[in-house]
Amino acid sequence: MSAFKTLDDLGDDLGDVAGKVALVRVDLNLPMQDGVVTDETRIRAALPTINDLTAKGAKVLLLAHFGRPKGERNSQMSLSMVVGAVEKVLGKEVMFVPEIAGDVVAQAVGILKSGDVAILENTRFWKGEEKNDPELAKAIAANGDFYVNDAFSAAHRAHATTEGLAHVLPAYAGRSMQAELEALDKALGSPEKPVAALVGGAKVSSKLDVLTHLVKQVDHLMIGGGMANTFLAAKGVDVGKSLCEHDLVDTANAILAAADESGCTVHLPYEVVVSKEFAANPASLRTCNVHEVAADEMILDAGPLAVEALADALKTCRTLVWNGPLGAFEMEPFDAGTVALARTAAALTIEGTLTSVAGGGDTVAALNHAGVAKDFSYISTAGGAFLEWMEGKELPGVAALSA
Ligand code: 3PG
Repeated sequence: MSAFKTLDDLGDDLGDVAGKVALVRVDLNLPMQDGVVTDETRIRAALPTINDLTAKGAKVLLLAHFGRPKGERNSQMSLSMVVGAVEKVLGKEVMFVPEIAGDVVAQAVGILKSGDVAILENTRFWKGEEKNDPELAKAIAANGDFYVNDAFSAAHRAHATTEGLAHVLPAYAGRSMQAELEALDKALGSPEKPVAALVGGAKVSSKLDVLTHLVKQVDHLMIGGGMANTFLAAKGVDVGKSLCEHDLVDTANAILAAADESGCTVHLPYEVVVSKEFAANPASLRTCNVHEVAADEMILDAGPLAVEALADALKTCRTLVWNGPLGAFEMEPFDAGTVALARTAAALTIEGTLTSVAGGGDTVAALNHAGVAKDFSYISTAGGAFLEWMEGKELPGVAALSA
């Protein structure tokens, strides 16, 4: 992992930061319904950094985007709407500033006392944000003394506040970013071997680059969800009316060949749970060998024996990276495979034989559903950034911190 500075380096670099202004990029792209934040996970993720900086006496200006307003002000996407939720989690008053640069921010900084926190307006209201305009970065930087990036989940975007600011101010990784990078490094950067990756989800097409990269990195690739059907079809299995990208059968075969060449064992379910309709506990539910799927049936989960085989493989591994569910976990009983394997991974983690890292929205929901999210070694709050990291791509926001 390339070196990056953390909040521990602040003192050596800048001396006492009391009264200094920290521009802190966080991810406040929060799920919201009828104006109410429905999940505070990302706010809580930013707490260690905010608390560390306020304890040191810095004035903290939070920078974040919300939605995709495309460079225009839009009252439906104003960050003023999340102030209440942030105050609740933080346990203190937070000022809202309707700008990100210029005099209004300068005045706010004048009013803030050491240890106070303010949220600036949605950075994506300014066109220069997504264009990574150096002039915008300079204008924002003019009101700050140093920059902290604590938004790993936005680090795949090369924007003014995720990348550009790191070039104009002393730049540091926040606590959440630091924890994320250290955990991800343990999982794929310099992992303890053997390494298993579980990749699930509906479509091969959405995770093509992930699969292509992983077969060169891991010892076991476990493929689940709808995308497993495309691989089964590539192997000549008749998958009935299962979700399947028949046009990607050649691609699937190429991935299997690459896996073979790199000594990566690809695990596909040999036993599956099928049904004629996608409904909760349907009458047509049955478990069968993959070669016995009828023309009017669809595969909706890995069968118990197939899950047991995956669990056995996992027991021989030291590291697991998990992205995507094994079956259609949002509907019972098609959650059974995901739940069972998640519990095995959690138990192995608790026993201390496995480092388990998971990420992606669906995955976190699935692990929460299985009641084991807290037992994994690390759960990433990132969606797109986690996937790009699994693809082996350099994330611009991370690269800028290491420059
Ligand atoms: C996310 O919600 O995954 C991040 O905040 C990135 O948002 P974006 O996909 O709109 O860039």
